[in-house]
Amino acid sequence: MIGSKINAPRASMASRAAAPLRAAARPVRRLAVAPMAKASAATLAECQAECAALVKKASCAPILVRLAWHDSGNYDATTKTGGANGSIRFDPEMKHGGNAGLPLAVKLLEPIKKKFPDVGYADLFQMASATAIEVSGGPKIDMKYGRVDAADESAVPPEGRLPSAGAPFQEAQGPEPAKEAKDQSPQGHLRRVFGRMGLSDQDIVALSGAHTLGRAFKNRSGAAPLESTKFTKDGPGTKGGQSWTEEWLKFDNRYFTMLLEAEAGTCDPELLQLATDNALLTDPAFRPLVEKYAKDNAAFCADYAAAHKRLSELGSTFE
Ligand code: HEM
Repeated sequence: MIGSKINAPRASMASRAAAPLRAAARPVRRLAVAPMAKASAATLAECQAECAALVKKASCAPILVRLAWHDSGNYDATTKTGGANGSIRFDPEMKHGGNAGLPLAVKLLEPIKKKFPDVGYADLFQMASATAIEVSGGPKIDMKYGRVDAADESAVPPEGRLPSAGAPFQEAQGPEPAKEAKDQSPQGHLRRVFGRMGLSDQDIVALSGAHTLGRAFKNRSGAAPLESTKFTKDGPGTKGGQSWTEEWLKFDNRYFTMLLEAEAGTCDPELLQLATDNALLTDPAFRPLVEKYAKDNAAFCADYAAAHKRLSELGSTFE
């Protein structure tokens, strides 16, 4: 199952995602037409405090990070489409196979959006993610706010731009991003996806370190071979799934030490490695960064924070 695509338009995945998605997306879209004022610094600070409280109460840091990354991670620097504009809240984008499970994240944020109507969706998604990283023990990310929200579904880019966890790998760029690529190497795929966004090899490795948080679920991406493990069976939050690290609500460099242990055969077999995670070990440009981050948590956190900031501003128009 490691080879399953996370963003392929799979019928089963689409139908699984459809029911919760409609429930979550309808009220979100109604609010989208409300007139927006620019949020003041005080409002942003209050809103951020609510995000921090939510992360602590619901143990939901990982899914909030994934929501923001999937909103921004479909940016195409050539056509200047996609990006961190809040368009993931619209049904057609939320239904992309790679977004399975994310209606839950939008739903978690709905009460905060209602309380702070002047904070836009794009800002709220990115704020919740950066706050989740910090609350989990990661770096403080130097965030910028004032993104203009995508107004309607016309901003939704074609499906296929988000990365797949395993073969078959798609082009992820151009007019038909879902088309199967000639180069089926996971590192080629990662460079097509992140290169399309204008991000570097270092950004790829640092950002992959976000998998120190969270889990893959059989009934969402289908990318996890195990339904549940000793690290996930009791939650907190949703039970089950397969995590990359033992303490999957803690943000540090464990993802990188785990990859090296997995290669040496000394890592717990219940921990997850996707084909795209393992590519970081085999590619000669990626590997030295894995080794560096495994040795030096501060270096990882500094590079992660810089890459996360870049990711969070891709394609955003600021007021
Ligand atoms: C490098 C290419 C990437 C691939 C192929 C990939 C793939 C995946 C897959 C298959 C899942 C499991 C989803 C599920 O079943 O619910 C996942 C989860 C996750 N991803 Fe990635 N991802 C990538 C990059 C990133 C980046 C750049 C970030 C953030 C900066 C990120 C953050 C996360 C988080 C936090 C989760 C856990 C979500 C949860 O526990 O609900 N990923 N990813």
